[in-house]
Amino acid sequence: MTQDSHRPRMTTTAGAPIASNQHSETAGDRGPVLMQDYQLLEKLAHQNRERIPERVVHAKGWGAFGTFTVTHDITRYSCASIFGQVGKTTPMLARFSTVAGEMGAADHERDVRGFTLKFYTDEGNWDLVGNNTPVFFIRDPLKFPDFIHTQKRHPRTNLRSATAMWDFWGQVPESLHQVTILMSDRGLPQDPTFMDGFGSHTYSFWNGNGERFWVKFHFKTRQGHRFYTNGEAAGIIGHTREGYQEALFGKIERGEFPRWTMFVQIMPELDADKTPYDPFDLTKVWPHGDYPLIEVGEFELNRNADNYFAQIEQAAFSPSNKVRGIGYSPDKMLQARVFSYADAHRYRLGTHYEHLPVNAPKCPVHHYHKDGQMNFFGQATGSTDAYYEPNSRGGAVEDPSFAEPPLRLSGVAARQPHRQVIDDYEQPRALHDRVLTDAERARLYGNIAAAMEGADEDVVERALVHFDRISPAYGAGIRAARAQKAETAVAAE
Ligand code: NDP
Ligand code: HEM
Repeated sequence: MTQDSHRPRMTTTAGAPIASNQHSETAGDRGPVLMQDYQLLEKLAHQNRERIPERVVHAKGWGAFGTFTVTHDITRYSCASIFGQVGKTTPMLARFSTVAGEMGAADHERDVRGFTLKFYTDEGNWDLVGNNTPVFFIRDPLKFPDFIHTQKRHPRTNLRSATAMWDFWGQVPESLHQVTILMSDRGLPQDPTFMDGFGSHTYSFWNGNGERFWVKFHFKTRQGHRFYTNGEAAGIIGHTREGYQEALFGKIERGEFPRWTMFVQIMPELDADKTPYDPFDLTKVWPHGDYPLIEVGEFELNRNADNYFAQIEQAAFSPSNKVRGIGYSPDKMLQARVFSYADAHRYRLGTHYEHLPVNAPKCPVHHYHKDGQMNFFGQATGSTDAYYEPNSRGGAVEDPSFAEPPLRLSGVAARQPHRQVIDDYEQPRALHDRVLTDAERARLYGNIAAAMEGADEDVVERALVHFDRISPAYGAGIRAARAQKAETAVAAE
């Protein structure tokens, strides 16, 4: 009996025990290696296939499992089973991320953070794929790939380009609300537990009477907001590029489970025609004074993944994963995302990505999709002889009780901007003039001035005109911060 006799035997992937994992099979002790050493060939071939495409955006991420608990009754707004009764718990997965950096990017970079939740409800998976910001840079999905290109590398220099970013933002003034948040303290949280989350889009709820409400989701951190300045973050990145992973994983390992409170804002369906802002414009919030936060529940992250690749990298979140009682809205961006994510998953993970354990619902799954690469589940129709629908061979059938009430739509089909005259400056003005303190504004100006470094002057000037329109003090503050940076640079020469 050797010391290792209790340990499992190593085998080939076909299950045959392996006699030696230390030496290749060679002709003579010097080699060459024999072609028949399949064990070596298999090992090398597997290594070549260890990488899958990284997410085209939000590639760098950190995640954990947890529990959502209902604390307040909202069944008058939604018949979603997850909200069924106070005290009900639902298992969930969360993944946080940065947007622009690649898989190896440093965690403490200034960027919007992804805030993604998968709720394994008893009526199917509900995914809320949001950010740590209540708004987004654009409101029309046709602009999304162009916007992302400005955040990624320049095709020739292979470097990120401040000119591209400010050129785009300066021509898309609706982006400056999100830019203001990104450049404020909230754009660089100390770790994922110190930030709020938002569904950002307007979604809809419907209740047991078939009444529809528009809804926005908010998740308030119970840890409080903590941020780093650019300078502090640079110091941390010099020390570790994995600060978020270390923090989130470490806290959960130590039993310091982070928590968030879930709130909703509810808008009666017909109010959407009355608000001065378009409630489906993703660059706008609904002011709390108009639509107060209503508490719903809380979630706690309390279990780290056993395997990062299997459970976090292979996690597939999609706004198309919705459940009874929760619906879409006319938001154009949301509509495009309903297509884009599942398409990305089929490319990134494969046809049957939803059968991977981390993505599989924890309720029965029955469908008539057939065959395809990596189909290890055989048939999911509920009956061996039912492989088409309708059938009289015991296969799964539809259930009309899950039907969504009709969504009221109006208008003509055309390529058109949002329906109302829109003021893109008012809401960032409220944030700048009313919400931020003097100290926060000073850091905001400094962060914007830093982000403008290296950008061509013409694009900077165009962007500054928009900051002036938000608030003259905002534009002036950025100009002063730029002048100060220039003076410091000259003094340093
Ligand atoms: P309120 O005046 O009622 O509250 C201010 C909101 O701003 C709070 O949610 C606060 O979050 C948040 N906030 C504070 N600092 C920042 C920051 N640096 N970046 C982003 N958000 C921050 O808000 P109103 O509803 O009257 O809206 C005023 C402005 O507040 C909006 O134009 C928008 O820019 C911003 N805001 C509004 C939200 C909304 O859903 N209405 C949500 C988030 C921001 P906290 O309570 O966590 O401190
Ligand atoms: C990831 C597309 C807007 C938040 C992704 C991915 C794609 C995508 C293709 C990669 C998915 C994957 O490979 O798993 C789009 C398109 C958008 C859009 C086409 C607009 C038309 C938004 C908005 C938000 C957002 C508005 C937030 C409110 C996220 C997050 C992830 C992500 C958090 C990472 C999800 C994860 O953790 O796996 N997006 N996106 N995106 N997107 Fe978007």
